Amino acid sequence: MGAMKLLITGSNGLLGQKIVANCMAQAIDFLAISSGDNRNPTCPESNYTSIDITDFNAVEAFIQANPCTHIIHTAAMTNVDACELNPVECYKVNHLASQHLFEIAKEENIHFTLLSTDFIFDGQQGNYSEIDVPNPLSVYGKSKCLAEQELINSAYTNWAIARTIIVYGVGYHLNKSNIFSWLLKELSEGREVSLITDHFRAPTWAEDLASGCLAIIRHQQTGIFHLCGPETLSIFEIGLRVAKYLQASPSLIKPIDSNTLNQPAPRPPITGFDLSKARMQLGYQPHAIEETLGLLQNNQF
Ligand SMILES: NC(=O)c1ccc[n+]([C@@H]2O[C@H](COP(=O)([O-])OP(=O)(O)OC[C@H]3O[C@@H](n4cnc5c(N)ncnc54)[C@H](OP(=O)(O)O)[C@@H]3O)[C@@H](O)[C@H]2O)c1
Repeated sequence: MGAMKLLITGSNGLLGQKIVANCMAQAIDFLAISSGDNRNPTCPESNYTSIDITDFNAVEAFIQANPCTHIIHTAAMTNVDACELNPVECYKVNHLASQHLFEIAKEENIHFTLLSTDFIFDGQQGNYSEIDVPNPLSVYGKSKCLAEQELINSAYTNWAIARTIIVYGVGYHLNKSNIFSWLLKELSEGREVSLITDHFRAPTWAEDLASGCLAIIRHQQTGIFHLCGPETLSIFEIGLRVAKYLQASPSLIKPIDSNTLNQPAPRPPITGFDLSKARMQLGYQPHAIEETLGLLQNNQF
């Protein structure tokens, strides 16, 4: 990859950890930042700096002192309900800080990849392609959509947007669990779970997403890419798949309706992505859910 130097934001997060691991394995020269101390043991301290991306001066000084050729921007406020309840903070992190990073990328001619989400869509259609029109329902979705617009409406074209859906995998000291790890635990211990039947998603193995993001860079790609898992299922069906894998009774999965959850943020009912572009242009080949459950259960990285 020549004289590539990658800056990864959000290296303490699930995706950030996987990108760091790939860089270590492939000897890609990188630096990593997150807001807190380094909680990712795969990331050497010498590659890590704690920076709040909403501190524009600190970000600018850091990039001036540490020039890079590529940025993969994964850092975000990702708790959708917290975003709905704290819109000012959400827009500051997800929109304004992303806009600021992109401004620096423009000035320094850095290739900039922004992580985004299926929540920019309203979920009436499903199987979204890169050219479908966004219509976010939640503060989180709007904040990510605004960040996207900064790139899409810019005269500077050296950028990519990687949109994804429910990311799951094994990580160190994450600040949240994921649906599969939770289901594996509950069902293997024989507990009942209530899962919604009216929301459909294509869960994404974090390793696949990290490979997709690095493929964007490797292939010098620009534009929007949809990167998710190969299958769109209801959350209820996801539960049944995990039960089947564990040979647990399907009767442990209780069907419920999303409106019984009273979640602060509205969510798109049906998402899932058309992966044709990613398969063709990036060679993206996501794993089936069943291929990942064993790794997840054994806490394999
Ligand atoms: N997870 C999903 O289901 C999902 C679905 C669709 C899209 N996405 C997008 O994919 C990306 C990665 O998601 P993820 O699940 O890996 O996220 P995550 O596990 O929640 O990690 C987020 C990371 O962002 C960092 N961060 C948050 N605020 C920051 C700030 N002000 N300054 C610097 N760093 C900050 C956090 O650092 P500290 O931990 O040190 O605070 C953490 O490392 C995000 O952009 C998200 O919007 C995720």
